[in-house]
Amino acid sequence: MTQDELKQSVARAACDYVRDHLPAGAILGVGTGSTANFFIDEIAGIKDRLGGAVASSEATAARLASHGVRVLDLNSVDAIGIYVDGADEIDGRMAMVKGGGGALTREKIVAAVADTFVCICDASKRVQTMGKFPLPVEVIPMASAYVSRELGKLGGTPRLREGMVTDNGNLILDVHGLSISDPVSLEAQINQIVGVVTNGLFALRGADVLLLATANGVETHVR
Ligand code: 5RP
Repeated sequence: MTQDELKQSVARAACDYVRDHLPAGAILGVGTGSTANFFIDEIAGIKDRLGGAVASSEATAARLASHGVRVLDLNSVDAIGIYVDGADEIDGRMAMVKGGGGALTREKIVAAVADTFVCICDASKRVQTMGKFPLPVEVIPMASAYVSRELGKLGGTPRLREGMVTDNGNLILDVHGLSISDPVSLEAQINQIVGVVTNGLFALRGADVLLLATANGVETHVR
C-alpha cells in the first residue's frame, strides 16, 4: 500500500469512528495536514449529522467549507465532542509531536476543548522515542533570536522555518537533534520560555484514541 492509501484508509476509519461515537448534532474538531485532508473529504458524506465543525487552521476551514460543512468559530461553541487530527510522531504513551504543517497552536487549542482526541496516522509515525522529527515551536517574531538561544540550551538545534508565517502571524522554529525522553516535562519547560506561543509536543494532553493505518488494516489503540 502507498502512504496515501494508508492515509485514506485511516481517514475512512476515523469517519466511521465519528459516526459511531459523536452524537448527532454535536460539534467535531478537525485537524490540519494531508491525513486530516483525507478525513475532511470523508466527513463530507456525514455532514448532515454534524452540528458543525471547528477548524484548526485556515486551510482546514476552507476545505471544510468547500464540502459544505458548517464551520464554526471556537468562541461560539461550548463543547467539542471529538477532535480528529494527524501527527508527525506518536509514542507508546500517546504523546505526539505535531506542527509539521505549522498549525500547532490552533491544534492545541481545539484539542484542549475536545472531550476525545482521536489521532490518525500511518504506521511510519509510531516511534519509541520522539525527536527525530524536528520539534516545531511557534514564536512571536521579535523573540525568535532569544527563543533560539534558549532552545539551544535544552540541547536542540533550532532552525527558522523559511517562508513560514502561521495563521496567527508568528514564526516557526524547528528544533533538530532532540531525543525526547520526558515529553511532559519538555513540553512544560519550552512553554516557559518568554516569546514561545506553543510548542509541538502534545504530551500534557495526548491522544485518547490512536487509529493507526498498517498494511494489514487499521489498528485501534485506546489510552
Ligand atoms: C499540522 C500537523 C499535522 O497533523 C502533522 O504535520 C501530520 O501531517 P500529515 O498528516 O500531513 O503527515 O500537526 O500542523
